[in-house]
Amino acid sequence: MAVDVGAVPARKAKNFPLYQTLTRLARDPLREIQRISGAAGGQVARLDLGASRPFLVTDPEHVQQVLRGESGNFVRDGTFWRPLHSLFGDGIMSEYDEWERAKRILQPVFSTKTIRSLSAHMARAINEAVGKLDEPARAGRPIEVMPEMGRIVNDTVIKVLFGDKIRQAEADRMIPAMERLATSIAFRFLMPFVPKSIPLPGDHAFAEGLQIMDETLYELVDRFRHDAGEGYDIFTALCKARMTEDSGLDDGWIRDNLLAMWATSTETTTVALTWIWPLLAERPDVAERLGDEVRAVVGPGEDVRPEHLHELPYVKQVVQELLRMYPVGWIFPRIALKETSIGGVRVKAGRRC
Ligand code: HEM
Repeated sequence: MAVDVGAVPARKAKNFPLYQTLTRLARDPLREIQRISGAAGGQVARLDLGASRPFLVTDPEHVQQVLRGESGNFVRDGTFWRPLHSLFGDGIMSEYDEWERAKRILQPVFSTKTIRSLSAHMARAINEAVGKLDEPARAGRPIEVMPEMGRIVNDTVIKVLFGDKIRQAEADRMIPAMERLATSIAFRFLMPFVPKSIPLPGDHAFAEGLQIMDETLYELVDRFRHDAGEGYDIFTALCKARMTEDSGLDDGWIRDNLLAMWATSTETTTVALTWIWPLLAERPDVAERLGDEVRAVVGPGEDVRPEHLHELPYVKQVVQELLRMYPVGWIFPRIALKETSIGGVRVKAGRRC
């Protein structure tokens, strides 16, 4: 959406100083953000964090403007992304030329043709991983949902990321390390203005997790240095791109993109799949209708294939409602490259939202 700075009368964003919000922000950040948004009447608000004074944008139309309409002007950069740089590096989760290049190389992996080839491997991995729940189900033994969903997601994502190029011992080393990274970064992400020299909870676990990931990924990259082999997986695509003459890409670039793809795909899907269980337990009618639709379209004992997805409208509705009620991502920091306005509030170049 194009925004004419002069068209809307300037409005001043309501200010929320850190001393009033810090305790609540540290205890329950999402609830505090909701409270601030409500206190600002849903309009753009300003968080006064001392060193940094980002705008808080929560109105759906304003969010659309930042993340879609003016996505070229609101980039992932600045203080809030700094803690994530050691994880994601300069690949698909960065910006500018690095992002363009990673996108160009990774896009073919998500083409219909490749997804079709990958889907059989994914279905097999999912069936095997879900099959491990048969035994507790038969015995009527409760399970811990989140780790089980994480296990199913990781076993599947590994196939998409590495195809058959990864050894089981490597996967077994990296899966728990990745989980440690995802949980231990929380404090740094929520308090990015705290300098690295001041220790925060999670720092040690993060450093350990990162070391395991780096060692294992670099070993893997080295093993396929001269021959990337065949495969539709992301690792093969990245290795082939690096081997292209004059690519200028190095091992670190492959590592950055693997970590970025792994982190973005597993946390999101695991959290979404975890929240669905309490919801289905509350609504057995929904659970029954979901099961009926899947059985009718996919058929008993058959693998789900990409062409089934268009015939599963109820599954889609349930997933959309799940993500609406329990959004797996709820903080998307951006920085404005040029001056603009959101909901009548002037946002100068370099300001954060
Ligand atoms: C419930 C599932 C998911 C949700 C709700 C979700 C949501 C999102 C959102 C909101 C962003 C934008 C973040 C930002 O720019 O600040 C994003 C980025 C991204 N996601 Fe997902 N995601 C999900 C699953 C996945 C999966 C399964 C993959 C990989 C196969 C994936 C790969 C990515 C990548 C690579 C990016 C960066 C894209 C770019 O900037 O070009 N996501 N996701």
